[in-house]
Amino acid sequence: MNINKIMVIGAGQMGAGIAQVCAVSGYDVLLYDANEEALDRGIKGIEKRLARDVTKGKISEDDKHASVLRIKKTASIDEAADCDLVIEAVVENMDVKTKIFSQLDQITPEQTILATNTSSLPITEIAAATKRPDKVIGMHFMNPVPVMKLVEVIRGLATSDEVFETIKQTAESLNKTAVEVNDFPGFVSNRVLMPMINEAIYTVYEGVAEPEAVDEVMKLGMNHPMGPLTLADFIGLDTCLYIMETLHEGFGDDKYRPCPLLRKYVKAGWLGKKAGRGFYSYTE
Ligand code: NAI
Repeated sequence: MNINKIMVIGAGQMGAGIAQVCAVSGYDVLLYDANEEALDRGIKGIEKRLARDVTKGKISEDDKHASVLRIKKTASIDEAADCDLVIEAVVENMDVKTKIFSQLDQITPEQTILATNTSSLPITEIAAATKRPDKVIGMHFMNPVPVMKLVEVIRGLATSDEVFETIKQTAESLNKTAVEVNDFPGFVSNRVLMPMINEAIYTVYEGVAEPEAVDEVMKLGMNHPMGPLTLADFIGLDTCLYIMETLHEGFGDDKYRPCPLLRKYVKAGWLGKKAGRGFYSYTE
């Protein structure tokens, strides 16, 4: 299976990063978002990060220019029709994702691989919204995409070996390391990470310590490069809540119960860094 042209759906923090690494690695990229402002913001972010890479001597001005030219933005999902691979990175919500996959199933040729960057939702259920579950797969990048080496590649129940191999090779062509996991809520990454973040939020909720203290303990005591609450702000508190809900529902165990303080922050619109406010404030 040859991958030349990739559509990335969702130009938020993950989608824009995915589009960037695909373009830098030589793929033709179509970036689509339902929200035009988000699309423009995504493209601007890519240009800014690439300009920074030029300043740091990581890439040449010519490479930057060529990469930017390889990314086209589009306001229509129908343009997926001539793509070999679609990587979906919209909000972590099953209804939104299944609707998109069912649309993509109609729009794209039967050989097109449909991948999702979901952090936790069952690949098998997303695949069931299509008539090609063998060509649906999880391709879970880490944040920030241009920096982090891992791509968790998740097989749904029906994902074919050929599709798995193609996606593994594609991830490697992006200079990432692909790790294969099976389809269980939260996969490996967020099944291990998110309960820790949730527990850190509980310690704030129960008055055990202030956010700064919680983060200091985990940084200096456990050698984590970033404290769990800073990381939660960075991931997005809405995304953290969606993931905890998926774990709670998927395993039916109260150890995954989202902390009420996390729910409260999300309801308040304190979604973390992207909203300017989460456990910390990001307004200049
Ligand atoms: P985000 O909130 O930054 O971006 C989501 C984008 O999707 C927005 O620009 C929004 O306009 C767009 N969108 C929403 N509904 C749409 C639709 N129906 N059609 C087209 N575009 C639509 O979210 P983020 O953080 O980029 O997350 C996206 C996905 O990546 C989620 O599934 C999340 O779980 C996953 N993910 C997130 C990570 C993180 O650290 N934030 C890490 C790894 C995966």
